[in-house]
Amino acid sequence: MDRKRRDFLSATAAAVTLSAALPAKFANAAEPLAHAPAPQAATPQAPAASPDSSTYAAPTEIKAIEIINLRELEPAAQKIIPNGGFGYISSGAGDEWTKRENEAAFKRVTIAPRYLSGYKDADRSTTLLGSKLSMPVMVSAMAGHGMAHVTAEVGSAKGTSAAGALYCAASLSTKTLEEIAQACPGPKWFQIYLPADRGAATEILGRAKAAGYTAIVLTIDTVVPSNRETDRRNHFRSPLPVGNFPGQNGSYGVSPMKRDLDWDDVAFIRKTTGLPVLLKGVMSPEFAVAAVEHGCAGIQVSNHGGRQLDDVSATMTVLPRIADAVHGRATILIDGGVRRGQDIFKALALGANAVAVGRPVLYGLALGGWMGVQAVLQHLDGELEMTMRLAGARTIAEISKRFLTA
Ligand code: LAC
Repeated sequence: MDRKRRDFLSATAAAVTLSAALPAKFANAAEPLAHAPAPQAATPQAPAASPDSSTYAAPTEIKAIEIINLRELEPAAQKIIPNGGFGYISSGAGDEWTKRENEAAFKRVTIAPRYLSGYKDADRSTTLLGSKLSMPVMVSAMAGHGMAHVTAEVGSAKGTSAAGALYCAASLSTKTLEEIAQACPGPKWFQIYLPADRGAATEILGRAKAAGYTAIVLTIDTVVPSNRETDRRNHFRSPLPVGNFPGQNGSYGVSPMKRDLDWDDVAFIRKTTGLPVLLKGVMSPEFAVAAVEHGCAGIQVSNHGGRQLDDVSATMTVLPRIADAVHGRATILIDGGVRRGQDIFKALALGANAVAVGRPVLYGLALGGWMGVQAVLQHLDGELEMTMRLAGARTIAEISKRFLTA
């Protein structure tokens, strides 16, 4: 390892913690967590510097899995993922209203099929910012896949590539971004929790570009830890290392990350990488328009799977107005509650270019390694194909409000 890289890693390691409650020694890395709920701040802390992954028995099997529907994967995965890890993956923030509402909102949109279309096939292929996909689906950025399976992101990236979907590698992955890229010959984007230090930020963005990621997704809704009651109840702190920031443990890192993100940071990422930048966490038309005006190539309509601020709207509730305001000037992804091919169809009909899927991918990974991830994505694609055939849409571009109940 060259010296520059080593210095960066050790500087970053000293600053990263992935626990929801941050050790006092990191409190001056950026703003103190004035808004974090008091009980979290009182959660006892183990030393952050020595992750011991031997204490965490993640599933190991790699096998084909049979899927009836994606919802059934959660209870199956719960049986094999260690309790703390399952709680971390499955839970949301606070009352988990937003998490439930994400799924519920899909059910409030209904499909108006157009029969006698004359079509006998449905082409799900699409291109997102130059990434050619066999289906309009991205695996959303998620921290610590090692909690779900020993192969971690190497498994999920391989399964995603095999299915022809888009993989978004997370800053807080168990494996390094280079290991993930190697396992992922297909299209891949990189999600950044922007380090506060510009040198560290430049370094990791440069690594991502060099490794072949073709767009950068900046998460904007995680400037302080949220109220993860399940994790507190379980006294959960992930024992797994974070590949991109060696020497650190855990599952939830914001400490070294810039907590006062602003538009200059967006410009910095664009300038530093020359890659398209997307904002993940956009929840209003005004903000979506601002993103376009500041040169973002895309947005991910997201409330972080209901894991950050509880009581915000479902993503499907805000999507139509956002899509109208963006008016084709940026690529739109939506995540949160996508469990069915019909959900993808509805999101596209309301103006999204693609959906992003989170938890079900980790459950597939737990149940079958890369083959489980491939199966999850193929299952969604199969349901989308059936939906398009039954509703009478032949291409992704053709899916519009015409296919929804007025
Ligand atoms: C989470 C953070 C790490 O949702 O993105 O847990």
